[in-house]
Amino acid sequence: MTSTPTPTPTAVKVPFVDLSWQHEPIKEKIQQAIHQVIERGDFVLGQALKEFEKSFANACGVEYGVGVASGTEAITLGLQACGIGHQDEVIVPSNTFIATLMGVIRAGATPVLVDCDPNTALIDLQAAVKAITPKTKAILPVHLYGQMVSPKELLDFANTYNLIIFEDAAQAHLAEREGYRAGQVGMAAAFSFYPSKNLGAFGNGGMLVTQDENIAKQVQTLRNYGAPNKYYHTEFGTNSRLDTIQAAILQVKLPHLQYWNQLRNQAGGEYYSNLKSLETYGITSMENQSGSGHVYHLYVIRIQDDCKFKRDEIREKLSNENIQTGIHYPIPCHLQPAYKYLNYQFGDFPNAEALCSQIISLPMYPGLKSDQIKLVCQKISSIIEN
Ligand SMILES: Cc1ncc(COP(=O)(O)O)c(C=O)c1O
Repeated sequence: MTSTPTPTPTAVKVPFVDLSWQHEPIKEKIQQAIHQVIERGDFVLGQALKEFEKSFANACGVEYGVGVASGTEAITLGLQACGIGHQDEVIVPSNTFIATLMGVIRAGATPVLVDCDPNTALIDLQAAVKAITPKTKAILPVHLYGQMVSPKELLDFANTYNLIIFEDAAQAHLAEREGYRAGQVGMAAAFSFYPSKNLGAFGNGGMLVTQDENIAKQVQTLRNYGAPNKYYHTEFGTNSRLDTIQAAILQVKLPHLQYWNQLRNQAGGEYYSNLKSLETYGITSMENQSGSGHVYHLYVIRIQDDCKFKRDEIREKLSNENIQTGIHYPIPCHLQPAYKYLNYQFGDFPNAEALCSQIISLPMYPGLKSDQIKLVCQKISSIIEN
């Protein structure tokens, strides 16, 4: 998860996230959309939800979308609907937001963690091969930072070992790679509409997308008290619907998403070219292997061990210059206290562990200006070169 966007104090020169630029021109349309929901009074499972489910699935290039309360819920209920649960193992990267792991556990399955490629921070499929056991039922790739895990490699892997692919696309709305869109590769995929995501609600929200009608119907049942029909409960289920008001807001924002993603991709290119000369000083950018298909939810740099400053020193110096940054994520999932019972220890996933202590997420949002990007890069250069 990225940090909750907070009002930007005036002293901040470059905020980490600023949503005002994207909201300002569509404010009135959003107000109208909210007003229409109030007039109709269909706050739960209402008309705007159905409309948005259709539009978002269509944008992803799949048949079905089912709105749920959050990305975490989309993973949990989506996995359950794919028939994954008790006794099943699911391969998951260790460097992801904890919700990926939570979804697997809440679905009743066991997460089996694997390391990542240090250049992209995406799941290492060679390492995943070694994690397969007779109980492995699925792989849960995370399209981290807005870049898809290679669909071709994923499909090869899943076909070879007869595994289900379930995509965590929480950070990758409309990302593309090798002719696929995020959400088109697996049996199903989960998206988050947390406010600072590429497509963000005014609160929490998520969606399960799939080509499979049965999976979509099952998530519709699970999100609604396990009831396919009112007061008739075939599953245990839960109460986890995407609010109609949130769907109405998202429907107004959706037509702008592609343009906002283009701006993120452009900003990513600008960061890359401004920072390239710092590679000799031990500062590298995460590799973009998907060109214009990368939707840069985050722009992440790595402070290698041979850099004369440590990550935290650089962050502090940037903060002193009123430039906000983040870390995604500071502790890998396998070392989180709540998941000790999974019996992993320090040293199990060296790439993920190294990244957690070396990465910095730089300001990234549509509306971030070239001058601001230059300023951030100049400050990093002057820190390193002085
Ligand atoms: C990779 C990843 N997976 C899952 C989630 C969970 O989404 P949500 O916060 O909507 O539950 C997030 C977002 O925070 C995420 O970044």
